[in-house]
Amino acid sequence: MAQIVYEGRQTDLLPGETVLDALLRIDPSVPYSCRAGLCQSCLMKATRGEVTSKSQVGLKASWVSQGYFLPCVCVPDGDLEIAGLGNEIESTSCRIESVERLCEDVARVRLRPDKPFHYRAGQYVSLVREDGLSRSYSIASLPDERLIELHVGIVSNGQMSSWLSSGEVVGQTVSLRGPLGECFYLPEDNASTLVLIGSGTGLAPLYGIARDALRSGYPGQIALYHAAKSTEHHYLHDDLSQLSSESPSLRYLPVTEQAEGELLRRIMGGEHAWPESRIYLCGSPTMVNQLRKKLYLLGADLNRIHADAFVTRAK
Ligand SMILES: Cc1cc2nc3c(=O)[nH]c(=O)nc-3n(C[C@H](O)[C@H](O)[C@H](O)COP(=O)(O)OP(=O)(O)OC[C@H]3O[C@@H](n4cnc5c(N)ncnc54)[C@H](O)[C@@H]3O)c2cc1C
Ligand code: FES
Repeated sequence: MAQIVYEGRQTDLLPGETVLDALLRIDPSVPYSCRAGLCQSCLMKATRGEVTSKSQVGLKASWVSQGYFLPCVCVPDGDLEIAGLGNEIESTSCRIESVERLCEDVARVRLRPDKPFHYRAGQYVSLVREDGLSRSYSIASLPDERLIELHVGIVSNGQMSSWLSSGEVVGQTVSLRGPLGECFYLPEDNASTLVLIGSGTGLAPLYGIARDALRSGYPGQIALYHAAKSTEHHYLHDDLSQLSSESPSLRYLPVTEQAEGELLRRIMGGEHAWPESRIYLCGSPTMVNQLRKKLYLLGADLNRIHADAFVTRAK
């Protein structure tokens, strides 16, 4: 039976068990969120032993070479010695500058980093509270803006979202790990159209990507679909309507999802040339997975589909 050693304490790995489950037996405060290898909240470093290649998918090459891996999807064959995050992975401390309701269940949270935080519009961060609670959030701001902007969907009994959306957190400190993810505008892009599709707070990264593309002088058309359960939940309606009236290449397309399949119907009605389009899908994992398959079947190039599924914490 393989053994896991973490900060001097050890446990046996049960058959088929992930390293994360074994670690949680040693230390219940070990951070994690999605348990699906997507959010990188559980990132750790193996200092001895072999981790699986699956547990390093999506990590930067420099992290892979240093033994970083995702314990939530790692079922190793042999013993492992594990450490928390080393100094190689930077964490930036931020002051929560403001919290503002954008609609009934979305808050705009603005953060002031203590030192320059370099990112591409549309990437995401792991936001870590002082007690170690960690969740992923996409960045809605542009790198040259003074504050980092996040759109936080308020989930009932959600540990991080309830805390973040309460005005009491203003002035408190959190740390950011990242930036992470590949959902960003590519300046060398020769796609004829950018099709940005987001549901709920999946609008956050798309808001950044659309503005980045416009500022960078993207020569094609940009279609930005925002699916929400009601018109009130089109929480950037005024900002985006104004932006599209100032920028003829941007079409803002709010979609109210009262009937099933409404988003897909609207997207199909847009008559996009899928093989030549670059597509960004962000938000609910169901929407992201369904649309990725549908658009591929309609001729979209998988290498031109960028997706961030907002996978939530698994029990
Ligand atoms: C790459 C990535 C990017 C993300 N970006 C964003 C973002 O920009 N904005 C954003 O708001 N979220 C984003 N998320 C989701 C975010 O990380 C959290 O999962 C979310 O904020 C809920 O955390 P919580 O601690 O409040 O809820 P938890 O305490 O983790 O969950 C409490 C309960 O609510 C359920 N639950 C959680 N979320 C939902 C939901 N949306 N609908 C219904 N039930 C739910 C859980 O299953 C659980 O039962 C992203 C996730 C990933 C992986
Ligand atoms: S990547 Fe491991 S918990 Fe999300």
